[in-house]
Amino acid sequence: TSEGRLVVVSNRIPTEGTPSGGLVVALHEALEHRGGVWIGSSGNQVEESNGLHKIAEGKYLRLAYDLTKAEHEGFYLGHANSVLWPLFHHRADLIDVDQEARRQYLAVNRRVAEMVAEVVEPGDILWIHDYHFLPLASELRSLGISNRIGFFLHIPFPNPSDIAALPDRRQLGGWLSAYDLIGLQTQRDVSNCLEWLRADTDAEFTLRGRMRLDSRSFEVRSFPIGIDVEGFQQAAEKADITITDLPPQQKLVLGVDRLDYSKGLPNRLEAFGKYLSMRDEDAPRATMLQVAPPSREDVEAYRDIRQELESMAGSVNGEYAEIDWTPIRYLRRPLPRDTLAGLYRRADVCLVTPLADGMNLVAKEYVAAQDGTNPGVLILSHFAGAAEQLDGALMVNPYDTVSMAEAIKQALDMSLHERRARWLSMMQVIRETDIDWWTDNFLRALQSQPQMKVA
Ligand code: G6P
Repeated sequence: TSEGRLVVVSNRIPTEGTPSGGLVVALHEALEHRGGVWIGSSGNQVEESNGLHKIAEGKYLRLAYDLTKAEHEGFYLGHANSVLWPLFHHRADLIDVDQEARRQYLAVNRRVAEMVAEVVEPGDILWIHDYHFLPLASELRSLGISNRIGFFLHIPFPNPSDIAALPDRRQLGGWLSAYDLIGLQTQRDVSNCLEWLRADTDAEFTLRGRMRLDSRSFEVRSFPIGIDVEGFQQAAEKADITITDLPPQQKLVLGVDRLDYSKGLPNRLEAFGKYLSMRDEDAPRATMLQVAPPSREDVEAYRDIRQELESMAGSVNGEYAEIDWTPIRYLRRPLPRDTLAGLYRRADVCLVTPLADGMNLVAKEYVAAQDGTNPGVLILSHFAGAAEQLDGALMVNPYDTVSMAEAIKQALDMSLHERRARWLSMMQVIRETDIDWWTDNFLRALQSQPQMKVA
């Protein structure tokens, strides 16, 4: 087409079949629609680095590369997940700066840029995803790629003052300005980004939110990511979940998170314990089911959070369990998407209470999965990106566990009338800003950026 192909780069790429999961589903659909190429790491580790290999070809091409063990350690576990992830989630106290890891981060970005440059044709537009690839456009520009390049950051933009702790602080402005469009999840992220650019770089503000830095001009805007609302709704209707040892009158309070210190899981368990301590004797029993599959377990902070959570779940159960009732159930296993959709529909309350989160698609999926005649209640942290959109949720401060416990009680006692009113208002927002809205808006904005010459 005259629009040119879409070339997507993300750290993870689905390796077989039709992908499931928020972001990958969205990108898959955009690529099916316009054709193009998706490049990412296979997830395999090899002895010696190799080039791109084809893993699937249908309406578009999927190309993967393997990381060596040293690259996996330095680039992925090291700089991306031990420096950038904690810092961008406002946890500068957890960062572990390591020069070798930083060197690998830069080297992988350079190597990926070389592989991408081989694939790119004039007229293609490039869409790069997430914190693993901050320097990628800058590397591509130095290889002479002048195509439009967009970047989307799925996680929060850091607090401007925290960026002082970033070893890449001096390079960050140049990395960002090599993109034509920078998409962030929320207005708060955009203000943080602009404030940092203003305070810490030589960026000049030009018309309509455009910036100029290092003789490049670029734009920073928010594009809150959405979900495939109808697809999720259908999956939830189809999945018929009966939890055999959970009687229908027993309330289900659900949490679904990757096991990560940014998700506020200890605070959530503490709040649920407090709720149990204040609940009326004759109130229906409520069981909390927390699904928390681990990732990045070779990073110490992830091992720590796992231990903390397991010991808390044990102690809350020890205190409140009865012979026929375990208040907290904790699953470390990932669940298939359809099962999750069914669980969302069965749950009376969903707790999405991160301390920091780019968007949090669980919040949107939970809303989409509800039966509109008898919907459940979403309890949402102010610190999730979704809080800027979903004001029908019960908003909580996850640091204030007493108020969170009160919110759980309020949610469990809420009238059908109020639950429906809140649900309808959230449904409207998630329908209006669904996944197609997100991809179309981002790509349209990218396409309309003035194309610049590479110096
Ligand atoms: C977050 C990031 C994604 C990442 C995902 C899973 O959502 O924004 O880029 O793919 O977590 O993390 P993992 O390290 O397991 O790929």
